[in-house]
Amino acid sequence: MKFNVRKWFGLKSLNENGSKKLNTTQKENVMKVWHIDSSARNEQSHSKRITQQFIDNLSQKTSVESDSLNVGAGLPFLTDTMVGSYFTPDEQRTAEQKSAIAVSNDIVKSAKEADVWVIGVPIYNFSMPASFKAFIDLLCRSKETFTYTETGPVGLLDNKQVFVVVTSGGTELGSEVDFLTPWLKHCLSFIGIQNVSFVHADQYNPEKDEAITQQIEEMTNSLVN
Ligand SMILES: Cc1cc2nc3c(=O)[nH]c(=O)nc-3n(C[C@H](O)[C@H](O)[C@H](O)COP(=O)(O)O)c2cc1C
Repeated sequence: MKFNVRKWFGLKSLNENGSKKLNTTQKENVMKVWHIDSSARNEQSHSKRITQQFIDNLSQKTSVESDSLNVGAGLPFLTDTMVGSYFTPDEQRTAEQKSAIAVSNDIVKSAKEADVWVIGVPIYNFSMPASFKAFIDLLCRSKETFTYTETGPVGLLDNKQVFVVVTSGGTELGSEVDFLTPWLKHCLSFIGIQNVSFVHADQYNPEKDEAITQQIEEMTNSLVN
């Protein structure tokens, strides 16, 4: 199903009421975007530059409120205390267990609040950076982002639209040695997100910038038209 941002943000009724244009003070009509980067690099990172290009392009077309997370700066890996805390009802959690999952709670909150996610992820050793795997381990939580039912697990995050910028040096997206994108699609689907589009910045070289810009233009247009 095509994501229709006007319907999603109630813009149809806004326009019908005669309001011409969104502005940042109309909070209820601001597109909430979660901007997640996972390259270990900063200034030299192509994926970080391209996710920013995506957000900048979208911001020129509509009002955007962006919440940023630089996974590449490092996230906690799961520990015994954290897993124990995941499976303990909140009212029974010890102070240590609560503190252990504070980062995960923040991630889950941001995940629920945003309508659009823009993710930058480079291919490292044919799959994801370790910090990005840590991010997914903090995001996928029973009763928070998915739940078990009699007929199997069901994702709880629906109505999200996700755009993933994938960079690589030589690995081709969709090739038999791309272990990143099938895994990521499956993880997102597991938590209920089916609307996933990939910005192809694989086998990156600057000659691809024009094609990348074109992909971004089409994707951001699909969000606002
Ligand atoms: C630790 C490491 C492992 C990498 N492994 C791969 C790989 O398996 N396949 C590939 O095509 N490129 C690989 N690369 C190259 C990166 O995917 C490429 O430089 C990409 O642009 C990195 O994203 P960034 O520019 O956002 O930092 C690797 C780079 C690093 C630092």
